[in-house]
Amino acid sequence: MGRIELKNIYKSFGEVEVIKGIDLFINEGELVIFVGPSGCGKSTLLRLISGLEEATHGTITIDGEDMTSKRPAERGLSMVFQSYALYPHKTVRENMGFGLTVARVPKTVIAKKVHEAAVTLKLEDLLDRRPKELSGGQRQRVAIGRAIVREPRAFLFDEPLSNLDAALRVEMRLEIAKLHQLLRATMVYVTHDQVEAMTLADRIVVLQDGLVEQIGTPLELYERPANLFVAQFIGSPKMNVVGANSKAGTVTFANGSEWDFKGAPDNAAHLGVRPESISLCGTAEGVLAGEIEVVEHLGSDSFAYVAVDKVGVFTVRIVGRAHVKPGEVTGLSFGADDIHLFGQHGGVALAFA
Ligand SMILES: Nc1ncnc2c1ncn2[C@@H]1O[C@H](COP(=O)(O)OP(=O)(O)OP(=O)(O)O)[C@@H](O)[C@H]1O
Ligand SMILES: [Mg+2]
Repeated sequence: MGRIELKNIYKSFGEVEVIKGIDLFINEGELVIFVGPSGCGKSTLLRLISGLEEATHGTITIDGEDMTSKRPAERGLSMVFQSYALYPHKTVRENMGFGLTVARVPKTVIAKKVHEAAVTLKLEDLLDRRPKELSGGQRQRVAIGRAIVREPRAFLFDEPLSNLDAALRVEMRLEIAKLHQLLRATMVYVTHDQVEAMTLADRIVVLQDGLVEQIGTPLELYERPANLFVAQFIGSPKMNVVGANSKAGTVTFANGSEWDFKGAPDNAAHLGVRPESISLCGTAEGVLAGEIEVVEHLGSDSFAYVAVDKVGVFTVRIVGRAHVKPGEVTGLSFGADDIHLFGQHGGVALAFA
């Protein structure tokens, strides 16, 4: 249950095309996360799956059944929103059971399902309260509980944790991970949060401007981004990318520095290297040399920002405490295995598989 397939989906609002041809297959029990810049169409795509919006073109099937023009209630999905959308005058118990009450499910069955969901979500002691008597995290739990009691084919989440403070977000993230393990239900989840996407997803779909840039497991996207956009979108702090040409096994940077790199393709225009893949070294040993501008101490890590004249500023992650200071000159060292080369138009440069 909960196999979702989108074929050639387009969506326009009036003249404006927002989703521009998306194919996507979501497996039974999979947790798939949509990420992408604000306005790229994440919520719209989720609403198309739920039936709250109708596609302009294309088909949506759930468990093999064509759902393209079915109403939301007929699709058997539950949606959880950022804004909780609870009824303020109803108790937690009534809020959780409301969908079933409307569907005329017998009271004893509703009571049993609400109780089970309350146990799963640790809401047993709060069943008689009203939403205003709950914390943000508890309210979101109720919204999730309301989704669970309907035993949907799949759960759709639109930024469910973004109204919560940082600590609560971490806690709820773990709750959702546990819930997914427990229910083994298909979940489609939209988030802005890198860590949520990397930690929760079986697969991440990176969207930009109504199109899919790449689909893959979190580590596939991190280690083998298909293009410059994904490379810089996934990972925090983001990948350093600078202009670099390659020819006959030599990479040349904008300041004229050359780096011997056998096997480099001839069509690279950009070189990417993640902050944790660079180490500081003596200026003579480095691929590049620059001056440290700022050092940030985060406790577990430090970040040094190193300006290389004519090339750019590199973020370098140092594990633990950094023993370097602004104004110092340093070398930057990284290896052939650490870098990503991209062509002029941002795709992966060839011969670097
Ligand atoms: N009902 C609507 N009518 C007209 N335009 C809409 C409508 N809903 C969304 N849009 C437009 O479609 C585009 C995609 O919106 P969507 O809400 O899907 O983005 P999003 O990726 O979820 O962004 P965010 O991260 O800010 O939530 C935006 O440009 C938005 O203005
Ligand atoms: Mg949105």
